[in-house]
Amino acid sequence: MSENKTIVRWHRPSVSRSRGCVVWFTGLSGSGKSTVANRVDELLAERQVSAFVLDGDNVRHGLNASPEILSRNHSEEFANRFGLTFAPLDREENIRRIACVGELFATAGLIALTAFVSPYRRDRELARQVISGQGAADDFIEVFVDTPLEVCEQRDPKGLYKKARAGEIKNFTGIDDPYEPPLKPEIHLAGGSQSIDELAAAVISYLQQRGKLTA
Ligand code: ADX
Repeated sequence: MSENKTIVRWHRPSVSRSRGCVVWFTGLSGSGKSTVANRVDELLAERQVSAFVLDGDNVRHGLNASPEILSRNHSEEFANRFGLTFAPLDREENIRRIACVGELFATAGLIALTAFVSPYRRDRELARQVISGQGAADDFIEVFVDTPLEVCEQRDPKGLYKKARAGEIKNFTGIDDPYEPPLKPEIHLAGGSQSIDELAAAVISYLQQRGKLTA
């Protein structure tokens, strides 16, 4: 009955490190998540704080690549099984993997700045549990980049909203796929009405207040 059960044991690391945290940016495509995360990264680098940006568009080229990308080096079966699209289950797996990577970064003492649409509340809550479930309740900092759809659509940096409106892309968040805004984010940023520097400064000041920065 249990012969095929996978058995793995947790090994406690023998070197102890001071924990980092995960700053989880969520919001519509074009809301400014990556831009703010990258600005925060620069400000942290100025303070010699180790941080790293994990960005949805970039991670979907590697760790969370699409079936099309995987099929270049792998079988069709493999590509279909492990490649990620934007279907709800695939978004769930995208977020699960990033939560696990963020948790590793935090354990290594870094500040992970993740910029993913992460449209589903449940997936973000599971990410929170993965990251803060290690007894560090304030290690998951949810940042809602609250930029109105009209503004994102007007910016349309990759021309994707135009394609989604034309029906060339299906299940595009905000157009024909849902976005569930956070109910109690640690940080709520008014993405459409403040400058990138102001938004990044708000994140830095929160990190300072929470004792995540020494300086
Ligand atoms: S998530 O929903 O699974 O968290 P993720 O952040 O990794 O999404 O990727 C979002 C990026 O993929 C967007 O910024 C956009 O450039 C691109 N994209 C392509 N198709 C879609 C889609 N159907 N919905 C949202 N974003 C999409």
